[in-house]
Amino acid sequence: MIPDQWYAVLESKEVPAAKPKAFRRLGQDLVFWRDGAGNLSVMPDRCPHRSAQLSLGKVVNGNIECPFHGFQFNTAGQIQLIPANGRNGNKPAAFQCHSYPVREVHGIVWLWNGAPREQYPPLPWFPELDALTNVGSFQAAWDTHYTRAIEGMLDVSHLPFVHRKTIGRRNATLVNGPYTTLENGRMLVWYDNQPDAGLPALKPTEMPPPAHEPMLHFNFPNVWHIRLGAKMRILNLIVPVDDENTVIYSRTYQGFVRMPVLRKLTDAWFNLFNRYVLNEDYGVARSQRPKKSDLHIGELFIPADRPIALYLQHRRRLIEEHQRTV
Ligand code: FES
Ligand SMILES: [Fe+2]
Repeated sequence: MIPDQWYAVLESKEVPAAKPKAFRRLGQDLVFWRDGAGNLSVMPDRCPHRSAQLSLGKVVNGNIECPFHGFQFNTAGQIQLIPANGRNGNKPAAFQCHSYPVREVHGIVWLWNGAPREQYPPLPWFPELDALTNVGSFQAAWDTHYTRAIEGMLDVSHLPFVHRKTIGRRNATLVNGPYTTLENGRMLVWYDNQPDAGLPALKPTEMPPPAHEPMLHFNFPNVWHIRLGAKMRILNLIVPVDDENTVIYSRTYQGFVRMPVLRKLTDAWFNLFNRYVLNEDYGVARSQRPKKSDLHIGELFIPADRPIALYLQHRRRLIEEHQRTV
């Protein structure tokens, strides 16, 4: 994982009001729970007393109560009650749970992968989605590292092969560019794939700056979206479970169908198609070894891989910059 980043980790609707829920995210077993006012708290799913899972407990008076001996902790992880010591008995501060910095915006739960600090950078959101409505989502579990899933979403030369029967039907095997920019942790990709007419592909550096909007948008560390039209987007959250597992949340955003029934139908069809296409990707991504991608692992690049190379380079830069500061 990249340190000091906001990772999208869940959808808000997965954490109900009254029941703590266990999720493995960023390589850790975590409990997500809400106090009586709906505020979200995220802690290690392990009681500091005798290591029972807090997610098996319940919420009592706005605190999470451990199922084993009834210790209670508030949303900041501070001990509130040790029943065996008595209501007014000793509550040593050592019984403190770590409470992760967390935000809940756009129906998504964002977890800060780093030490708490005074000021946080903004969430890696795409403001262009604000004018549209999220009309549905689905999840896909992949048994691979999330870097492989992200690479696949930045890979513009696989379409006529992996998706030959769906989105790659044009047989546009020749990849001009792609023109790609990366600024402030945000990557934009304009791709120009064509059927091969015998001319060599234009290198990324030979492409003129495009006049239209980019198709692919990626924000570090793990959110991506594709523009399928002015009012149609797919947002993917590529969520690390641990080094071997990933969950992809695929959310559809649109702004053209207003009638609720029609919108439901369009969305159901679209989700089905999107799920099918993503599964085509999975067939290949699951075969890649090592499961975790990086630079210098013996893999080679072609010019069309520029977005993947930029992703891996920037990822490495962020990790190494952090290592130098600690
Ligand atoms: S293990 Fe949680 S209260 Fe004892
Ligand atoms: Fe794909």
